[in-house]
Amino acid sequence: MFMSELFLSYSSFRTGRLLCCTVQSVTHSICYSSSELRLLVKSHLRSSAFFALLAEQQPHRADSMDDQAENRSRQRTREYLEGLQLLKQGAEARVYRGLFLGKPAVVKERFTKTYRHPLLDEKLTHRRTAQEGRSILRCRKAGIPTPVVYFVDYISHCIYMEYIEGSVTVRDYIISTEEKGGSLYGLAEKIGKILARMHDEDVIHGDLTTSNMLLRPPHQDLELVLIDFGLSFISALPEDKGVDLYVLEKAFLSTHPNTEDVFSALLKSYTATSKKSAAIIKKLDEVRLRGRKRSMVG
Ligand SMILES: Nc1ncnc2c1ncn2[C@@H]1O[C@H](COP(=O)(O)OP(=O)(O)OP(=O)(O)O)[C@@H](O)[C@H]1O
Ligand SMILES: [Mg+2]
Repeated sequence: MFMSELFLSYSSFRTGRLLCCTVQSVTHSICYSSSELRLLVKSHLRSSAFFALLAEQQPHRADSMDDQAENRSRQRTREYLEGLQLLKQGAEARVYRGLFLGKPAVVKERFTKTYRHPLLDEKLTHRRTAQEGRSILRCRKAGIPTPVVYFVDYISHCIYMEYIEGSVTVRDYIISTEEKGGSLYGLAEKIGKILARMHDEDVIHGDLTTSNMLLRPPHQDLELVLIDFGLSFISALPEDKGVDLYVLEKAFLSTHPNTEDVFSALLKSYTATSKKSAAIIKKLDEVRLRGRKRSMVG
């Protein structure tokens, strides 16, 4: 992209006339949202030629005001999160327990990864935060149980959502039920049904594991809640749904050894519930075969 084109787009952005723009050059044309454009300009600011051009027009004062407001917001969120109880520290996100307008809430914060290029990191983190909020809403609209989203903060990349009080993960429930010698077939049937409904809405979860499903109390009522939609996306393709089930199968059988029969019951219930299960199960079989071939080749 040429500096002058970037500068023109940026000027319109500064005057508030631009929410998103298409920047064209001889070789390509890209549509940027205003936040992406701002980041792009910031990275170009390191180039002294472009800095001189901006200095001539004196637009960087407002830029620093934007930065100051964002920094203040980040600082306030940081201070708030420091007072909360940390529930889980993952590789991508921290999950805190807190209150949102007096309601029990969890705050899921996707933090900055310094090993990534800042632009790429901002883009990925933004996308995952947005995707999580969007897919949860789509599921809730279709009556698929997920936590209520209270608020999404795109500056600190935090999602504030309903805290499912007294819940356990399906992972922990399976482990404790196995210890007691209880049956898991009822649970398998419930999971199969919910996943079929989710796939019929074209939501692909992207990270189906037994840790990303919760059971509300009383746990024996098997009231499932799906969580952790950061890798989710929308697709109607049987292949994407088949891969989603394959990811779950792998995670399920490695976390809970000797549960092949339970997983078969899950698939049976999925097949009976989903309107488009035949093509999806066919794809699942193909993906399994590919997986097996790959592991034979090594
Ligand atoms: N809405 C919620 N209510 C109650 N507990 C929750 C809620 N959301 C998340 N948790 C708890 O926090 C854990 C981590 O949440 P989540 O899976 O969203 O984050 P994560 O960082 O992606 O975790 P992982 O890397 O294990 O997938 C969950 O397994 C669950 O125990
Ligand atoms: Mg998770």
